[in-house]
Amino acid sequence: MQVRLPAPLLLLLASLWRGAPGASELRYPPGKIAVIGAGIGGTSAAYFLRQKFGKDVQIDVFEKGTVGGRLATINVEGKNYEAGGSIIRPLNLHMKHFVKVLGLSGPENRNGLLGIYNGDEFVFEESSWYIINILKLLWHYGFSPLRMNMWVEDIMDKFMRIYRYQSHDYSFSSIEGLLHALGGNDFIQLLNRTINETMQKAGFSQKFIYEVVAPAMRVNYGQGANINGFVGAVSMATADSGLWSVKGGNKLVCNGLLYASKAQLLSGTVLSIEEKTRPKRTGGTVKLYEVSYNSASGSTTDMYDIVLIATPLNRNMSNITFRNFNPPLAQFSDHYHQTVATFVHGRINTSSFGYKDPSHFYLASIFTTENPKLFINSLGVVSPVQNTHEEVRQPMGPAVWKVFSKEPLTKEQMNLLFSSYDSVKEKKWLAYPHYSLPNKCPPIILHDRIYYLNGIEWAASAMEMSAIAAKNAALLSYHHWYGNIDMIDQEDLNEKLKTEL
Ligand SMILES: Cc1cc2nc3c(=O)[nH]c(=O)nc-3n(C[C@H](O)[C@H](O)[C@H](O)COP(=O)(O)OP(=O)(O)OC[C@H]3O[C@@H](n4cnc5c(N)ncnc54)[C@H](O)[C@@H]3O)c2cc1C
Ligand SMILES: *[C@@H]1O[C@H](CO)[C@@H](O)[C@H](O)[C@H]1NC(C)=O
Ligand SMILES: *[C@@H]1O[C@H](CO)[C@@H](O)[C@H](O)[C@H]1NC(C)=O
Ligand SMILES: *[C@@H]1O[C@H](CO)[C@@H](O)[C@H](O)[C@H]1NC(C)=O
Ligand SMILES: *[C@@H]1O[C@H](CO)[C@@H](O)[C@H](O)[C@H]1NC(C)=O
Ligand SMILES: *[C@@H]1O[C@H](CO)[C@@H](O)[C@H](O)[C@H]1NC(C)=O
Repeated sequence: MQVRLPAPLLLLLASLWRGAPGASELRYPPGKIAVIGAGIGGTSAAYFLRQKFGKDVQIDVFEKGTVGGRLATINVEGKNYEAGGSIIRPLNLHMKHFVKVLGLSGPENRNGLLGIYNGDEFVFEESSWYIINILKLLWHYGFSPLRMNMWVEDIMDKFMRIYRYQSHDYSFSSIEGLLHALGGNDFIQLLNRTINETMQKAGFSQKFIYEVVAPAMRVNYGQGANINGFVGAVSMATADSGLWSVKGGNKLVCNGLLYASKAQLLSGTVLSIEEKTRPKRTGGTVKLYEVSYNSASGSTTDMYDIVLIATPLNRNMSNITFRNFNPPLAQFSDHYHQTVATFVHGRINTSSFGYKDPSHFYLASIFTTENPKLFINSLGVVSPVQNTHEEVRQPMGPAVWKVFSKEPLTKEQMNLLFSSYDSVKEKKWLAYPHYSLPNKCPPIILHDRIYYLNGIEWAASAMEMSAIAAKNAALLSYHHWYGNIDMIDQEDLNEKLKTEL
């Protein structure tokens, strides 16, 4: 006699059958997940992992330095200033969400007037009169600034699709796949062309690229118009208005996410990861990852079902060894660009910038064009993190200036830049990728259940990008674990989700 299975059961069986090979053995929830790095990438990964995997899984976050990583503050004369990642853009929706759920506040940054210096003179000086700025821009660059806004907006419209995909739980197994799902081949092409070439092809003038685009890249990435078109475009989005940062310091988001995720913070340096086979209580074997780390109490190891790596894989930054993998894991050594942030409390030497009479000088932010004789990328007056609505900024009086340069400033250079100063603090960063073409983004999946977040920095390095990579890795690890292959690398998501609404 033939037994008819009820339809819901058939559906259930079908969905089990569709699962990835070996998926059914993974249908119990994972016991332990390791996240390496407590920057914005690692802490937001812990947050999203908790959302997906539920309250029972143990999440351990390893940190060898301070929670926040490249989000850090520095103390100058009793007040704290952002020393690393500082600016958040209005359309950075994950950062916005974190600040909201964590009960933090993110006031808008008010920047003083901007000048662009080419080593001999200012090629552009902002005025406090809106209409004068418009006329100046038109006079210098024609309609390029306006066109640029539209050009960037078009790219951002596509980029913003990521939030819809992620809110529907879709994930991607490669950076290229993620970008392709957002903007098709155009986005992939942006990765392999400089912003210079990309904007030339789009009809922007050399003058505009040299005097406006390159200086913005130098502030954001310490590199000029030869960085890739994708990072170039997203970092120009709303270059002027609505920029904000977190009151008290951006790193508070990391502390908050860690707390909200109920993850355990393990202060220590991860040295190696090794795959181990262990017998299961129920018979058979299970593969786990053994994480070895050094902490104040000595060397320890711990076993994990899933590992997320949320730090650049680079000997100088994380120095993690993958042991006994067969075949061995590709060891890549991504080269990161050094940027030095120097904080100076003092008076700017206006004659260094061609101003004989300091009383005529009113700029609070100086960008630079590419010129080998310039030893700085930018300098600007900064406000403390406690008080982003600083009183009126007085660039002529003593103020705290933040200088970005490739190398530490020498005493002679300091004396050129400042007519007087009383305190100096310096922070040297391996800050972001050293972008060069051709650009190959590192993989997200390093091994069955080892995921790498920071490859996304090769498309673009920013807090929001780390948060996007974190949510993607949390979703991807979840879907792999439960065999939801229909939630990974879906084509035509944009069309699919349109009709779903
Ligand atoms: C000077 C500067 C200016 C910037 N400006 C901006 C900006 O204005 N806007 C913006 O959006 N972005 C900016 N960025 C970029 C932004 O700060 C980074 O993209 C982002 O903070 C990276 O976060 P992450 O968590 O991916 O990495 P990280 O913050 O680097 O976190 C990695 C963490 O892992 C830890 N770690 C490393 N190895 C190990 C190990 N073996 N064991 C245990 N722990 C380990 C590290 O100590 C670190 O805390 C700037 C960066 C710099 C340096
Ligand atoms: C852009 O590329 C052109 C060559 O196509 C080069 O001459 C120019 O100097 C570059 N501009 C910048 C700002 O890098
Ligand atoms: C990286 O770690 C190895 C041992 O694990 C050590 O010998 C080496 O000096 C470390 N390198 C750096 C740059 O810290
Ligand atoms: C690490 O630092 C050394 C010395 O500063 C440098 O030569 C090397 O290129 C760096 N490696 C990477 C991967 O950045
Ligand atoms: C200021 O800059 C000028 C021109 O670069 C330089 O001659 C002078 O020594 C600098 N220092 C002071 C204190 O003015
Ligand atoms: C960029 O070009 C290189 C070499 O041509 C290629 O290996 C790489 O895959 C390309 N990257 C992308 C994102 O297309």
